[in-house]
Amino acid sequence: MTIGIGLLGLGTVGAGVAEILATPEGRHPLVAELELRRVAVRDLDRPRPVQLAEHLLCTSPEAVVDDPAVEIVVEVMGGLEPARSLILRAIAAGKPVVTANKAVIARHGEEIAAAAAARGVYVLLEAAVGGGIPIIEPLKQSLGANRIQRVSGIINGTTNYILSRMAAEGADYGAVLADAQRLGYAEADPAADVQGGDAADKIAILTGLAYGGTVPRGAIPTEGIDQLDGRDVTYADQLGFVVKLLAVAQRIDRANGDSPAGEAIQWLDVRVHPTLVPRSHPLAGVNGVNNAILVEGEPVGQVMFFGPGAGAGPTASAVVADILNIAGIRQACGAGEGAALDPLLAAGSWRQCRLVDGAQTTHRNYVRLRTSDQAGVIGHIGTCFGEAGVSIQSIVQFEAGSEAAEIVVITHEVLEANFRRALAAIEALPEVQGVAACLRTL
Ligand code: NAP
Ligand code: HSE
Repeated sequence: MTIGIGLLGLGTVGAGVAEILATPEGRHPLVAELELRRVAVRDLDRPRPVQLAEHLLCTSPEAVVDDPAVEIVVEVMGGLEPARSLILRAIAAGKPVVTANKAVIARHGEEIAAAAAARGVYVLLEAAVGGGIPIIEPLKQSLGANRIQRVSGIINGTTNYILSRMAAEGADYGAVLADAQRLGYAEADPAADVQGGDAADKIAILTGLAYGGTVPRGAIPTEGIDQLDGRDVTYADQLGFVVKLLAVAQRIDRANGDSPAGEAIQWLDVRVHPTLVPRSHPLAGVNGVNNAILVEGEPVGQVMFFGPGAGAGPTASAVVADILNIAGIRQACGAGEGAALDPLLAAGSWRQCRLVDGAQTTHRNYVRLRTSDQAGVIGHIGTCFGEAGVSIQSIVQFEAGSEAAEIVVITHEVLEANFRRALAAIEALPEVQGVAACLRTL
């Protein structure tokens, strides 16, 4: 029996999904059971990479959701509204939803999950993180036995593509970003990619799944690559590192960490920032549009997921996998009105999570200082770090000219509050003109 699919959006991802549905040969037999019944777009006259019967297309996403022939709603239009309202509308109509929209899930995931649980329908989102890499379902199901220590990785394809080409070819930032847009990797507004917001949306989602509770999306410290100076990429290279935009979610176990009301709280350090990664680290070799997510758990140890993180085919692969999951359940159990949801696949929250105060976290740091080139500068800088309790791993002077020098310091893992205290003291030194760059180091 065929299952009716309604597609909200026929852009990069939507066209990839339509292409898979139109060519089921050689794929899982269930793909042949999926029938595209209605598709919403903004502009009916726009040329499309897939040929669809004209009667399938319309400009009303509400009509697609409401169409009785549509049994599963696939939201691949992006943006917050009307995407959020359409997802809620589909849920209210008892229709399962598949979405690739990390922005809407990172901000409205709790509301959507509550509505879905109340109505007894699934909302699946494998494509929202990591493009074609299976990471959502593994976190929900295959790794469910673990206490997750850390989830870290490269989860934005556009910025990894830009950084890789800048490092390999010295390519111009703007030109490579334009290529990423042309290739369908970037968001409709690429500021979300380069300013780190897309990676923050994704790590917010992974955090919820790995630790069983949400953290406020707006409170995740986020830094993108738009302010990154090519000079730091070059210096990093000379020091044996590559620069990657990393997203990290780490559990922080605290004595007396529960709320005054006695509720158990999981404290977390969650952040997104450009990071110097040692060339020997597994994430250093992840280049181009590829993403990689390293999950560290007890007892499993380290598991790394790698693959294409954006683009039509990989993302559509993840979307269709979710559709198949729902189609499989429907085939086994019927449409499921009133049936209980599988708690692993539905993945609700089961714990309170909170972000720790950033000043109390510990990191290795890279800092580039502009100074005058005179005797004693390195000694004074070293003293400031030492007095603040910041241990230095290396200190190197670059480009010493007649009057100016650039001094790059890499610290050991130190308390952020101490590091900030040291920087304030260094900035006050008369021979220091300023802190030119400050990046994290793995
Ligand atoms: P896109 O190429 O911009 O496509 C968006 C589609 O939605 C277009 O077909 C557009 O119609 C349609 N649309 C937008 N607003 C609409 C409205 N109000 N009514 C009717 N149709 C509307 O975007 P995309 O790259 O496919 O991304 C879609 C979603 O997938 C986003 O949430 C994105 O974050 C996510 N995602 C993308 C990738 C990727 O590699 N691109 C990877 C993972 C996740 P027109 O074509 O007529 O303008
Ligand atoms: N713009 C996103 C990226 C698409 O570049 O990673 C995949 O989520």
